[in-house]
Amino acid sequence: MILQISELYKTFQTASLPPVEVLKNLNLEMEAGETLAILGQSGSGKSTLLTLLAGLDSPSSGSIILNGQNMDELDEESLSKFRALNIGIIFQQFHLMSHLTAMENVSLPLDLFQDADATEKARQALDHGTFQTHGSFSTPAFRWRVSARGHSQGHGGSSKHTAGR
Ligand SMILES: Nc1ncnc2c1ncn2[C@@H]1O[C@H](COP(=O)(O)OP(=O)(O)OP(=O)(O)O)[C@@H](O)[C@H]1O
Ligand SMILES: [Mg+2]
Repeated sequence: MILQISELYKTFQTASLPPVEVLKNLNLEMEAGETLAILGQSGSGKSTLLTLLAGLDSPSSGSIILNGQNMDELDEESLSKFRALNIGIIFQQFHLMSHLTAMENVSLPLDLFQDADATEKARQALDHGTFQTHGSFSTPAFRWRVSARGHSQGHGGSSKHTAGR
C-alpha cells in the first residue's frame, strides 16, 4: 500500500464567515503503480486534498500514511526531507527558476541534498523526455526563460523540465 487515507477531515476557519468543512471523513487506499484522477466541481476540495497529501498543510483530523510514513508524525524539518524524497508535484504554474538553465532547474533538488551525482541524474531525467532535439541543456541558448507571451514551445518545454525535476 503506497497511500492510506483514513477518516480525513479538513475544515477552514475564517474570522468572519462560518467554518468551511471541505473534507469530511475521506477514506482512500492506493497501491504502488496505481493512477488516480481526482475529479470534482470547483470548490469541492481537490486542491485542499492535494495540499494535505503533499504535506503543505495539515488535516483537521484523520491520518495520511504515505509510503509507510504517517505524515502527522513528522516535524517541519523531517517533513521537508520526506517531501523531497517521496513527493513530486507538477504545478499548473511550473515554478521553474527563470535564471537557471533547464539542467540546473532539474538538478536543484538533488543539489540541495548535496547529491554528488546531481548533474548526471538531471541529465538522465532530461534525456528520458524528448529534449534531445533542443541541443545542450546547459548552453545559454537553452536557458529557460519566463515568456511574457506564453510562447507555446516554452510552455511545453517548461512542463517537461518540471517533470524531469
Ligand atoms: N485557505 C483557505 N481558507 C478558507 N477557505 C478555503 C481555503 N482554501 C480553500 N478554501 C475553501 O475550500 C473549498 C475547497 O477549495 P479547493 O481549492 O480545495 O477546491 P478545488 O476543488 O480545488 O476547486 P477548483 O476546481 O476551483 O480548483 C472552497 O470552498 C474554498 O473556498
Ligand atoms: Mg483546485
